[in-house]
Amino acid sequence: MLIVLNNKSNFNKKGYQEYLCHLKRIDFSNHTVVLCPSSPYFILTESDEIYLGSQNVSKNSYGSHTGEVSAEQLKSLGVSYCLVGHSERRYEEQESIEDINKKIMCLLKNDINPILCIGETASEREDNKTVERINNELTKIIESIPQEYLKKIIIAYEPIWAIGSGIIPTAEQINGSIQTIKKLLPGNKVLYGGSLNEKNIATLLNIEIDGYLVGNLSLNPEKLNEFILNKNIVN
Ligand code: PGA
Repeated sequence: MLIVLNNKSNFNKKGYQEYLCHLKRIDFSNHTVVLCPSSPYFILTESDEIYLGSQNVSKNSYGSHTGEVSAEQLKSLGVSYCLVGHSERRYEEQESIEDINKKIMCLLKNDINPILCIGETASEREDNKTVERINNELTKIIESIPQEYLKKIIIAYEPIWAIGSGIIPTAEQINGSIQTIKKLLPGNKVLYGGSLNEKNIATLLNIEIDGYLVGNLSLNPEKLNEFILNKNIVN
């Protein structure tokens, strides 16, 4: 399984170093684990077991873009995965589909695997518009990506209403969305994210999935270890 740990803007430097020590004690050997810390901590993170991921990338290349970190810079720091289009960035930073497209292309040109986050709002779910939202958005994004790059994009299905809420969708709802994504991008890896933890992982037992994107759970090495050891996680 591909397990992506999204630390968001958590930990100060000392707290992160302690966290890393705990993380190193977890046996991740049966999985591919990607740690996405805050970008200043990339240089503190060295591990043979864990891949380095970024939570964001600039939509521009090297140059005069104050405060931005380019894909070229991420590459030079050993980053091999990067989240794109997380709902917190779309809402807090007004990231558009055009921005997302540019970011994906910058990553692909630098041989970094984009993890594209996609999912519906609570009202779209209530109005039965989940499939429409996923189809429309994914189609728009796919259209602008050259065919030879498409396979490299990993999709994280993250219902916006589930992120950080403590509520996860039913197995049927998750499966429906995963199938919608797989119909458009057969063969691409698809992850689930949104309030996943060591207790509710059983919900995903019979779903054909390639991995998980976890936020809150990633901050607690003890619970993360329980999650990894859970028999419901197939390797
Ligand atoms: P959560 O976050 O696991 O805390 O819901 C997931 C995410 O935002 O990627």
